[in-house]
Amino acid sequence: MKAIAVYEDGTEPVVIEKPRPEPEAGEALVRTLRVGVDGTDHEVIAGGHGGRPEGEDHIVLGHEAVGVVEEPNDTPFEVGDVVVPTVRRPPNGANEYFARGEPDMAPDGEYHERGIVGAHGFMAEYFTSPAEFLVEIPPELAEWGFLVEPASITEKALEHAFASRSAFHWEPDSALVLGNGSLGLLTVAMLDADLDRIYCLGRRERPDPTIDVIESLGATYVNSNDTSVPDVPDVHEPMDLVYEATGYAPHAFETIEALAPNGVAALLGVPGDWTFEVDGGRLHRELVLHNKALVGSVNSGYEHFEAAVESLSVLSEPFLSDLVTGVHPLESFEAAFVDDDTTIKTAVEFAAYEER
Ligand code: NAP
Ligand code: BGC
Ligand code: ZN
Repeated sequence: MKAIAVYEDGTEPVVIEKPRPEPEAGEALVRTLRVGVDGTDHEVIAGGHGGRPEGEDHIVLGHEAVGVVEEPNDTPFEVGDVVVPTVRRPPNGANEYFARGEPDMAPDGEYHERGIVGAHGFMAEYFTSPAEFLVEIPPELAEWGFLVEPASITEKALEHAFASRSAFHWEPDSALVLGNGSLGLLTVAMLDADLDRIYCLGRRERPDPTIDVIESLGATYVNSNDTSVPDVPDVHEPMDLVYEATGYAPHAFETIEALAPNGVAALLGVPGDWTFEVDGGRLHRELVLHNKALVGSVNSGYEHFEAAVESLSVLSEPFLSDLVTGVHPLESFEAAFVDDDTTIKTAVEFAAYEER
């Protein structure tokens, strides 16, 4: 079968030939439909994040997949079920995090992430997975199923952010998403319509397709070249909720100044090492005297995938079509890895969905 991989000495993904995987006991064989590409894939390709499986000179890419069960074996699935795999797998047998059903809370070394660190990903014509890591989705969602994984990231981050505010009466009116990449835009669309004001910050000038998407969702675009994150409260208003999806490390700290009293920010970006100056005393004081919270969040659990399926099913087709700027067949997979100002979200299509 064909797979898309990056080699240890490579800087670009390539198509390789690999044997079709044989499902082990408790595993289903899945025929891949589509696999999405996100900022993390670009970081894996560039060598800035993740790592190859032990003893391998390449890693098969892809962690945002949707497929169709081809061979259920001894799993509860049936041939033709549409499924989305979760990302994390136990590295050497189960550990306490996996046993508890909380692999997303495991620290470094206690997990592999398919397509990212220690395990091959889903960008192949077939993949196998234990049933416990496959989430069934409605066939109507097959086309957009590769968005379930990124949506699950937001489900988890918002759950943790809200949990940190659960000890008191907290009703957020405003939210600011930092970053107009695919994760940022998907989050703007997923945010509760009960919020009075939703903003999304980027560094692009008009005309730009991401600004069109933000405005089509009824949100306000904030250009960071005109309004830096600490200036947001003066130009707009202090924000109850901030969702950082830029990976621009200063934002993690500047966010404290953008937050309203009692507000919370979820930090999602995964920057490399980055040294810069901050007024630590001022930020520390601000966090304490205004009961603010910063919550880091990575990966997601099975129930976040289930919640993501629900969230995705109510997003409008016009939004999804604007967000997904390209679904490319394997023959022209390179187009899915182009990262320019006209590209928002892309996927590689390994097979078209056909209802059985
Ligand atoms: P992405 O496509 O690279 O999006 C990042 C966006 O942030 C880009 O649109 C970029 O703008 C914008 N940006 C960067 N620096 C900025 C700045 N200084 N001011 C304003 N805008 C800025 O990545 P993504 O897939 O959406 O993911 C977003 C981040 O979340 C990445 O760091 C990724 O690694 C991380 N992530 C984390 C998790 C997790 O589990 N924690 C899951 C998924 C992704 P331009 O396009 O104009 O450069
Ligand atoms: C993936 C997560 C993963 C994180 C860190 C994200 O892009 O969606 O599943 O945990 O990167 O590797
Ligand atoms: Zn991702």
